[in-house]
Amino acid sequence: MVAQPERNLILLGGPGAGKGTQSQRLAVRFGIPQISTGDMLRAARREGTPLGKEADKYMAAGQLVPDSVVIGLVEERLKAADTKPGFILDGFPRTVPQADALSAVLKKLGRGPLRVIEVAVAESVLHERLGGRISCPKCGASYHVKFTPPKVADTCDTCGTKGLITRADDKPEAISQRLREYADKTAPLIDYYTKAGLLKRIDGVGDLEIVLGRVVQALDG
Ligand code: AP5
Repeated sequence: MVAQPERNLILLGGPGAGKGTQSQRLAVRFGIPQISTGDMLRAARREGTPLGKEADKYMAAGQLVPDSVVIGLVEERLKAADTKPGFILDGFPRTVPQADALSAVLKKLGRGPLRVIEVAVAESVLHERLGGRISCPKCGASYHVKFTPPKVADTCDTCGTKGLITRADDKPEAISQRLREYADKTAPLIDYYTKAGLLKRIDGVGDLEIVLGRVVQALDG
């Protein structure tokens, strides 16, 4: 049997661009784990760990958590055996120092090259998506009250948990702050990965399966 090359993917895009939604689908399709730093930080917050308490101050205000905190989390996660065939990074890296640290970690671990997909969505659409998002408090699956509602009202399609919630950082003032953080600190990564010849951009607006098809085509093309 021919060994499959590693699929080491980054989904880049503004808050609400659909990174989490598409990462979950890609994880199933390719049989590789989704690594969401947002989900990891929210889990730490739920468990009340010192890291979770520290992160909460930043997350509730829509600010980025310090690089040193998230870099350590991702480095540990990438050492796990399930990432050997590849992984999908969702929400990391978000700053140039995080991207530099990721390159160094992958080199240290002897891992294959990265592919970066930018999921492009206009800011007005991001506001609308985040304003109507509801999430599963258990598995983190995301829905939208209008665009992508769950099959059964208030119930997670993925794990059956009842009582979908609105994230604290989906309040209007936190959404505006997250968009500012994205423009100031994360958008420079588009240039960073374009110059490295690793980035492809896809249109993130449209039916979920159509957007997924664009991502897969960009990866296979
Ligand atoms: P994180 O959880 O990563 O939040 P984010 O980047 O703001 O991304 P979101 O989860 O809000 O959006 P998404 O792109 O995943 O969209 P989704 O698929 O849910 O981070 C949260 C916080 O943690 C940060 O603010 C920061 O404090 C901290 N943090 C995390 N990582 C960090 C890092 N590396 N460094 C520092 N701090 C970090 O979709 C959104 C909505 O749209 C959903 O309702 C969905 O159903 C709907 N939708 C999706 N696709 C479509 C479509 N095609 N059509 C219609 N609706 C759609």
